[in-house]
Amino acid sequence: MAGAVSLAPHAFSAAPRYPKAPLPPEDADIVDVALTAKLRPRQLLPAPAKITPTISYGDGPSIIRIRHGQWLRATLKNELAEHTTVHWHGIRLPNALDGVPYLTQDPVLPGQSFTYAFQPPDPGTFFFHPHCDTITQLGQGLAGVLIIEGDETRPFDADLVCLYRDWRVNDDGSFGALTTNKGAGTAGTFGSFQTVNDQHQPVFKVPANGDIRVRFLNVDMTRLIDLGLEGAEGWMIATDGNALAPTKLEPWRMGPAMRLDITFRAPKSGSVKLMNYYAAEPVVLATFEAEGAPLDRPAFEPAPLKTPLIPEPKASDAVDFTLRLSAASAPSPLPADLKLPNGETLPLADSLCLTQRTFWAMNGQTWPSTEEGRLPPPLASFQKGKTVVAEVVNATPHPHPIHLHGHTFKVLSSNKRKILPHFADTALVTPKERLKIAFVADNPGAWMLHCHIIEHQETGMMGYVLVA
Ligand code: C2O
Ligand code: CU
Repeated sequence: MAGAVSLAPHAFSAAPRYPKAPLPPEDADIVDVALTAKLRPRQLLPAPAKITPTISYGDGPSIIRIRHGQWLRATLKNELAEHTTVHWHGIRLPNALDGVPYLTQDPVLPGQSFTYAFQPPDPGTFFFHPHCDTITQLGQGLAGVLIIEGDETRPFDADLVCLYRDWRVNDDGSFGALTTNKGAGTAGTFGSFQTVNDQHQPVFKVPANGDIRVRFLNVDMTRLIDLGLEGAEGWMIATDGNALAPTKLEPWRMGPAMRLDITFRAPKSGSVKLMNYYAAEPVVLATFEAEGAPLDRPAFEPAPLKTPLIPEPKASDAVDFTLRLSAASAPSPLPADLKLPNGETLPLADSLCLTQRTFWAMNGQTWPSTEEGRLPPPLASFQKGKTVVAEVVNATPHPHPIHLHGHTFKVLSSNKRKILPHFADTALVTPKERLKIAFVADNPGAWMLHCHIIEHQETGMMGYVLVA
């Protein structure tokens, strides 16, 4: 019923302060998906370990595939004991659907539902995860993959999703500490059980002599990966879902939240290994085993994907922005209220999503922790349509994968290393590095900007920018 108001009594009413989401047009091609966040214990470690109390959006892995042009209508039902939201990582969607509690929507309380309906503007490899007590919720398993199909220039013989994560589990299957002060204050707390699609070193059968596409997603909260292949020549074809002219894969460094699409020609027999070289000893992540009679294929040429639809940054119309990553000093005083671009005022949030620890800062500002429930002022305000050239300065001894919501940026240059210019939504900034990125600020709203090492995000290295 149009305009109906729910009178259900709950702590967070549908407050007018949040942006509005456009509804799908009547002729929209809509794919409906149910995401029920709840405890689904399962055998993660091999027996004799006991089952692990993992949480998930569904039975089995949550991999959503839709076609470019379709709408996704995902209904989140919260059957957890605490509130949650879904953030659609890397999707340039309307602000109202970005899934950030207190900034773009009320948190979805236990027992409640929330529907996200949007038409992803870009094809590619994306994922989704909660944006609330993320250390616990993501740490216990809550995440899914969102594939927007339609970027191929010719079909692959296989299209595989490889979702990587490292579980903080004890030998008996129970969860260990998902965070520690020592980890949060340094490079993060590491797990002890590395999986691809929830399996340790899985074996994928691939058509012999076929052209294989692998969509690799680093969904771990902490680990860096130098992704490579053994047994075949790999080619990178997309970064964070955005097409890249096929480029030979030398090990490619990926922080948490980063994705890489690669292609290779499967052998006529035998196998290819997906490797992580960011370790004292290289680690096998997964194996691709050739099966069947070799396909009849001409000599291998990596198939490029379609050119991304991301607006090119324009130097002639640019504003500069410096983002300095540092350790936190004393917490800064926080304003009582925040003015949003539409003139409304964002009142105090409650403390549910906020950490009680502060180790990190962006431009000297921490995501609030001491004065409970207050949002800090935006890190910057950009005029809609302008190109923003941002220099991210890492003044810490640790690498930080910096993620911007609602926009896709181009990684341009570094004072420390040679950069292959590419589109991304998350960029790894190494110690002492000054990394230059640029994007067209064309999506109005309040957009989070944070480190995707989740313990850093939740202990201060988080903020937001306004586009209006
Ligand atoms: Cu996947 Cu705010 O991030
Ligand atoms: Cu960080």
